[in-house]
Amino acid sequence: RKVAVLVSGTGTNLQALMDYASSVPNCTYKISLVLSNKKGVLGVQRAKLAGIPTQIINHKEFSSREKFDEAMDNLLTAADIEFICLAGFMRLLSGWFVQKWRGQIINVHPSILPAFKGINAHQQVLDAGVCVSGCTVHFVSEKMDEGAILAQETVPVYPEDTVEKLQERVKIAEHKIFPRALEVLTSGQAQLDKTKNKVLWRKHK
Ligand code: GRF
Repeated sequence: RKVAVLVSGTGTNLQALMDYASSVPNCTYKISLVLSNKKGVLGVQRAKLAGIPTQIINHKEFSSREKFDEAMDNLLTAADIEFICLAGFMRLLSGWFVQKWRGQIINVHPSILPAFKGINAHQQVLDAGVCVSGCTVHFVSEKMDEGAILAQETVPVYPEDTVEKLQERVKIAEHKIFPRALEVLTSGQAQLDKTKNKVLWRKHK
């Protein structure tokens, strides 16, 4: 299945998705396009190194979020994309875009949702003084970080942790679960039940 990965930054999750696709036999997804709203970011360089087509689409050149999303949608449709991964994509998506791609678009968030939504998740975790954090792969819905959950993994939080240390530990977990969740989705093992907003798992025979 053809997948597009949307990035705005370092793209370590993109790298994990690419590495999985090239190392796991019969992987059910192929990254056919990497879209970034920023040029010159490491994520784009990683895609280029791997020979994956890239497109930069600068949100500042559009008069509204809707127009920017429309341009992205055109690129995705032209490339016959079936699934979208948000991998550190730092733009909110408009309601119509999320509706159109509902069930086909997933995100990785650096906390155990529904706790610690939004930006600065690691700082929120440290401020709350919890002993466990982790990451979540979820379907994208109109409300930020609220879609049905496909995969989660926990990591410990240590008393001497900083945002950087915790982020590094959480990213290792992200790199494990994001490719697996994408594989589960693109292989049809799981799908979004749009009425219940729950993940529907295919039963084993
Ligand atoms: C990750 O921590 C992810 O959870 C969040 O953005 C970060 C992206 O990191 N949504 P990278 O660009 O994949 O290294």
